[in-house]
Amino acid sequence: MSFLEKIDRSRLPGHIAIIMDGNGRWAREKGHDRLFGHLHGVESVRNIVEGAAELGIGYLTLYAFSTENWDRPADEVSGLMELLVDTIRKEVPTLNKNNIRLMVIGDTDMLPENARRELNEAIAETSVNTGLRLVMALSYSSRWEIVRAVKLMAADVKTGKLQPEDISQETIPQYLATREIPDPELMIRTSGEFRISNFLLYQLAYTELYFTDTLWPDFRKENLYEAIVNFQQRERRFGKTSDQMKQEQELNS
Ligand code: IPE
Ligand code: IPE
Ligand code: MG
Repeated sequence: MSFLEKIDRSRLPGHIAIIMDGNGRWAREKGHDRLFGHLHGVESVRNIVEGAAELGIGYLTLYAFSTENWDRPADEVSGLMELLVDTIRKEVPTLNKNNIRLMVIGDTDMLPENARRELNEAIAETSVNTGLRLVMALSYSSRWEIVRAVKLMAADVKTGKLQPEDISQETIPQYLATREIPDPELMIRTSGEFRISNFLLYQLAYTELYFTDTLWPDFRKENLYEAIVNFQQRERRFGKTSDQMKQEQELNS
């Protein structure tokens, strides 16, 4: 029986975020260079985006390139950027066909000019789509995002647009790159690493975390379904007791 049949369609996570890790190890296992792994990682991206759209997931955030990844060997970085440009260009018709809207979070000013242009065009060309919101985290890191948020807030305080005493837990998300995007309910990391690597530190406060040994180029829809089934077996308590959660559930049903 496929994990797909075990998914409760009425309790899907509204936002799934994925740290797509393990491309390099996958390629090395096969005796190839790291870029070969990234190339095959794109196949997984296609498959998972399609799977999420078919299920009716609202938001899918994919961590594709971190601020720290700029420190990798120059040929790997330029190879990844070329792959990015190439993939975006090719995928826009499919995104439109599947009613998917592309969004980006990250320091896109750091990207090469042609990558930035392709990205902006793809964002514009898919902006009217109303299905899955595909959020690419590119040149993204949470600490970059938080520094930027604090600067923006300080600037608004300076001009009087924001009063320090009005800053609340509702204010801060408005200054993050993810404004307009709800917090992830499920975060998946592939390749057996148990860390967050500077990804959505603020937004993951109450997210359910799922770690799998599967390397990203091997990750397919069935693996996504398995993660969702696992998510649905958990009790999310948000600091309350199990009894309280059951009472709330009864009241809501
Ligand atoms: C993830 O795979 C893709 C990026 C970070 C761009 P890695 O390239 O990190 O693969 P491993 O972790 O070295 O196997
Ligand atoms: C995290 O993977 C970033 C992306 C998947 C884009 P890394 O491979 O860069 O993370 P570390 O270095 O293992 O923490
Ligand atoms: Mg890695």
